[in-house]
Amino acid sequence: MKKIRVVIDCDPGVDDALALALALASPELDLLAVTAVRGNVPAGRAFRNARRVVAWLGAQLSHPRDLPPVHPGGSRPLGRDRIDWKASAAIHGPDGLGRLFPGVLRPPRLERNPGQGAEEALISLARKWGRRLTVVALGPLTNLARVHQRDPSALPGVGRIVVMGGAARMPGNVTPAAEFNIHCDPEAARVVFQSGARITLVGLDVTRRAFLPSRALERGGAFRKGLRDLVSVYADFCKRRRGMDGVFLHDPLALAAAIRPGFLRCERLPVTVECGRGPARGMTVVDLRAEAPKGRIEVALDLDERSFLRFFLERMRSYRGWS
Ligand code: RIB
Ligand code: CA
Repeated sequence: MKKIRVVIDCDPGVDDALALALALASPELDLLAVTAVRGNVPAGRAFRNARRVVAWLGAQLSHPRDLPPVHPGGSRPLGRDRIDWKASAAIHGPDGLGRLFPGVLRPPRLERNPGQGAEEALISLARKWGRRLTVVALGPLTNLARVHQRDPSALPGVGRIVVMGGAARMPGNVTPAAEFNIHCDPEAARVVFQSGARITLVGLDVTRRAFLPSRALERGGAFRKGLRDLVSVYADFCKRRRGMDGVFLHDPLALAAAIRPGFLRCERLPVTVECGRGPARGMTVVDLRAEAPKGRIEVALDLDERSFLRFFLERMRSYRGWS
């Protein structure tokens, strides 16, 4: 099987951790590296969480595989926006991974930090693999924007960038206008969207239909128990706020789109990012008008949710202690 070479840029974060679980359980992927970015949690915590999650997942796989290096990333958004850490903790828990680790599982020995920062790792992977590399961005686009500022040939030179972020026809989830990843660093999103890279934008229009009910994680062995702990705070939040017992698989859907694009129906549409300081800051303005010029960005407008959910749960069976 021809492997898809992938680097995942993420801000773990509960659904980022679920996306990493899907990535390590997918034989189609050659996960070359994970880069951490400030978003759901501060940058240092994102780096620590990514390393702990990769180490934990690696120890749970039925068939062990080489684990990717994890690189520390950007803490300062281009737009200098502050993040409401209290609001993030209400969804992802105080340390960003629900109740997965504190007191539940002693984190396995952490991999040695390979020394390279996220930007350097992304630039060197883009230069080495070019069109044969897929970048999956699951957090704010701060790292990718800095990569473009340092080497404008890097992003346009990779095969594809799959971005979890924004919305076309839906309201935001962090303000009425903006989705969280874009809202954290709108200027970075604008830099990446205008970089000339081949982008697939997996936004709330489809990720809000990728819902994992808590009952799917009931019973089972130690790994499924770990996933229950991981999603517990987020599921409680969804119950309180929406009367829905489960979690949205925003990031796992974006990762899945890198493996099987067929889960989504996309249209090439013009997308701009509102970077003013008003109430629409961070909004992705998608031109859906019939007369709109063809855009460069593939915007996901529809999803085969049953197939995606079946795919996700099927891949979780790759872990000892799932059943
Ligand atoms: O809006 C959802 C996105 O914001 C996801 O990537 C989630 O992890 C948060 O970062
Ligand atoms: Ca994320």
